Amino acid sequence: MSEAYQQRYAQSIADPEGFWLAAAAGIDWAVRPATAHDAARGWFPDAALNTCHNAVDRHVAAGRGDSAALIYDSPVTGTVRRYSYAELQEAVARTAGMLAALGVEKGDRVVIYMPMIPETVFAMLACARLGAVHSVVFGGFAAPELAKRIDDAQPKLLLTASCGIEGTKTVAYKPLVDAALALAKHQVAHVLLLQRPMLEAAMQGARDLDWAERFEATAPAPCTDVAATDPLYILYTSGTTGTPKGVVRENGGHAVALAWSMANIYGIGAGDVFWAASDVGWVVGHSYIVYAPLLVGATTLLFEGKPVGTPDAGTFWRTIARHGVKTFFTAPTAIRAIRKEDPDAKLLAEIGLGDLQAIFLAGERADPDTLAWAGEKSGLPVIDHWWQTELGWPAIASCHALGDSRRRPGSAGFPVPGYRFDVLGDDGAPVGPEETGHVVIRAPLPPGCYRTLWNNPAGYEKCFSAFAGYYETGDAGHIDTDGFIHIMGRTDDIINVAGHRLSTGQMEQIVASRPEVAECAVIGADDALKGMIPMAFAVVKSGAEAGEPLVRAIIAEVRGQLGPVAALKDVHLVRALPKTRSGKILRATLRRLANGEKVETPPTIEDPAVLDEYRALFGAEAAQSVA
Ligand code: COA
Ligand code: AMP
Repeated sequence: MSEAYQQRYAQSIADPEGFWLAAAAGIDWAVRPATAHDAARGWFPDAALNTCHNAVDRHVAAGRGDSAALIYDSPVTGTVRRYSYAELQEAVARTAGMLAALGVEKGDRVVIYMPMIPETVFAMLACARLGAVHSVVFGGFAAPELAKRIDDAQPKLLLTASCGIEGTKTVAYKPLVDAALALAKHQVAHVLLLQRPMLEAAMQGARDLDWAERFEATAPAPCTDVAATDPLYILYTSGTTGTPKGVVRENGGHAVALAWSMANIYGIGAGDVFWAASDVGWVVGHSYIVYAPLLVGATTLLFEGKPVGTPDAGTFWRTIARHGVKTFFTAPTAIRAIRKEDPDAKLLAEIGLGDLQAIFLAGERADPDTLAWAGEKSGLPVIDHWWQTELGWPAIASCHALGDSRRRPGSAGFPVPGYRFDVLGDDGAPVGPEETGHVVIRAPLPPGCYRTLWNNPAGYEKCFSAFAGYYETGDAGHIDTDGFIHIMGRTDDIINVAGHRLSTGQMEQIVASRPEVAECAVIGADDALKGMIPMAFAVVKSGAEAGEPLVRAIIAEVRGQLGPVAALKDVHLVRALPKTRSGKILRATLRRLANGEKVETPPTIEDPAVLDEYRALFGAEAAQSVA
């Protein structure tokens, strides 16, 4: 075990005030924090700062204006563009000026529905500069999902681009925005649209404004100081209902925690190149494409492409080598996609990994096989680590930069300083080592973690109510005898599809909304590439048209309502759903059947014969394994 890790961890628990006030010295404050934490007011309650100043301006002021801040590498458009900190400052200040001229002020919300292009990063930082609150919506969500977020966040402006590029497809964004605004009750003052050369969007009257024209005509705006506890952004994530949860991130704790994590987990400081191959629409993109690398004066990489097909399975290695990436962060599913195309890692051997020192994986469980393959082919430490949108930064990891090299396949590592984990049984009592239970974190959560849900404080409180004194992560897992924490899956209906967090409950609501469907269940089935894929079982109303057209209609409905990211492709029309005698659908049984696992017929099942249909559906092997 690393002494540095042990020492830091012990200090963070014994003296959180001292620990986090020391970490706060890594940030420039307009009003320095005198107190780290106050039970009622949260982290750094008496301090003030500007996050954009910390991510951009202060590095220019310190004489690092010529250092690289942002590299945009877009294999899908054949573009590589570098921005120095001085250029980033100019672009962000002018973007902020453009938003301010349209009436955006401190506290106003701005929805950003944009692809992986530099202007998206400028827009996020510009909101931070003005003290406005951005809410980035992932491009893979459909219009109704965008509309829900617009209605909840009530933004003054919506920022978008004419299109995104998904591999070889051009995805028109504007029709989705128009449809979302037609569905939403709340109306934005303006849509500010960046026309990309590959697709021109149609503009609607006075509402829609051209980004490039406005940008040219604008003056830069300065940074506005905000309270450390003021919101920096709202990021909606899947909860257990059809209504997304608006995770609110506060400025001060976020800046302190992210800067700390770069130095102590990822080993990144000023001048280093860091790449998180995620999307700005997810928390990984917020924290580790945009804010964290810039907060420490590093160079961040914005990659517009996929792990495969843009143009091949060597694109990650090529990008890493080309830009001198030191630490790389991706999702296990991306490694699986590469491995599928290039099982012997010939492209990796051919291209090399340049200056790369470590690969971090998160977003879903890293299966030991994928970890072993990546480790063997790269010859580098491949480090699984765990966190959630709610937390904003890693909570379980091997703190590589603190010299902790302990790793065990199947485990995400140890508690990161600041986090106190326990595993509890249903009764709230701690379970023993190796025993599976609810993975919980002792309250208060460290800086950077959410302190409320937008318009939904009760939803936030609920996550702290099941186990007194703890935050319930929603994950199940165990701690082994050596203290490694193993996360095994969710205790609710959230699934991770290709590293994307989705709610099967929400999909069930959509499937059930079809007039032909009497009842349904959606489960997450194991998938060799995406980790999990959603699978729907629907019982058709008597007299309704069933068959292939209905299957296609259900798939289209989920895609239309939730978005392509839902990736629902498997729909089974069945006579009945397996249920307990009290009428509860046996989703766990369905999941095990779909995975071909051995399933005992539950003694509480209402009608054991129902399982026969599922035995037939999943083939002889599964049928034999069913008791
Ligand atoms: N805008 C519009 N559509 C999007 C989108 C976006 N930003 N992101 C995904 N989609 C679409 C895809 O084009 C696809 O559409 P299709 O059904 O028409 O093919 C659908 O949503 C599903 O996307 P995805 O699940 O990503 O599957 P894929 O086959 O396109 O790619 C992987 C598979 C594994 C290569 C890809 O999922 C991947 O790179 N995953 C890593 C994800 C990640 O980094 N997550 C962040 C957590 S750290
Ligand atoms: P998100 O909020 O999208 O980051 O998703 C968070 C959820 O993803 C967690 O609650 C876990 O269920 C899962 N997850 C993320 N990282 C890991 C990991 N390293 N191992 C296992 N599950 C993970």
